Amino acid sequence: MSYQEQYDYFRLAAEEALRGAVPADVPEPLRSAMNYSLLAGGKRLRPVLLLAAYNLQAADITPALPFAAALEMVHTYSLIHDDLPAMDNDDLRRGKPTCHKVYGEGMAVLAGDGLLSLAFETMAQSGHPRALAALRELALRCGTRGMVAGQCADLRAEETGGDADLLHYIHRHKTADLLTAPVVMGLTLAGAEDNRISAGREYGQNLGVAFQIIDDILDVTGNEIQLGKHIGKDAQENKCTWVSVYGLEKARKDAAEYTGRAVAALDIWGEKAIFLKTLAQHMLVRVQ
Ligand code: IPE
Ligand code: IPE
Ligand code: MG
Ligand code: MG
Ligand code: MG
Repeated sequence: MSYQEQYDYFRLAAEEALRGAVPADVPEPLRSAMNYSLLAGGKRLRPVLLLAAYNLQAADITPALPFAAALEMVHTYSLIHDDLPAMDNDDLRRGKPTCHKVYGEGMAVLAGDGLLSLAFETMAQSGHPRALAALRELALRCGTRGMVAGQCADLRAEETGGDADLLHYIHRHKTADLLTAPVVMGLTLAGAEDNRISAGREYGQNLGVAFQIIDDILDVTGNEIQLGKHIGKDAQENKCTWVSVYGLEKARKDAAEYTGRAVAALDIWGEKAIFLKTLAQHMLVRVQ
């Protein structure tokens, strides 16, 4: 299988797990608001990372699918809330009007809340023997010392201005934590040894920082149609980004450096890690 075929195989498996994931008895318009954002597309990078990490250790990815779906639910919740007027105030996401533009701010807050709790319900009901360890990893990475802490620093930096220390904290937590969790969860679920889980963590953390640096670059140089979101918003909102602190040239150089570290962390798997290594390199040159 080519890299792209492999990516699409994981992505489509995750898409399938997401269809019908929001229970039929969730009241309207909450159910529609949740599905509107959850099924709007996107790269499905976090589920792909989880399934690929799991697949490093185990051939059948089926037992990992509820966790892949849960990750995308948490990610989508983070995007719905990130786009709210009280946060980044964005009206375009994944090429469509943002959740709050269609369903109103109150319903968008609730759609995010609903997706977060549904993610944990989905993992808890998986029946996987290692579910609790995976659940714990996601709780830590998405919560008040993880993504939420990063988003807190991101908002605070709008007011106080950001220095290099704060910038690194923001990127590590608001984004890298949610790219580290899938890798660690996938390996943990598959029963990988501790040294392999550490290697996966190292990969996720470096990939995650590179990913947010590229996101910052694309906010300046990207194409709105390809990205499916408005550009130029970071400067408008006085965001602390890799570009605002270091400039475009160093941002490009640093993204490549973090990617190199991510790739090197996977050497422990030899040839088997080729997909995840290639993925990191593709994310460096992505346009969406
Ligand atoms: C956007 O994430 C938010 C960031 C952490 C930069 P993605 O770029 O993965 O968004 P989708 O899921 O493909 O829409
Ligand atoms: C997103 O950072 C981080 C989270 C949603 C947790 P950004 O605010 O830069 O993401 P985009 O550019 O809106 O996708
Ligand atoms: Mg933001
Ligand atoms: Mg944003
Ligand atoms: Mg951004």
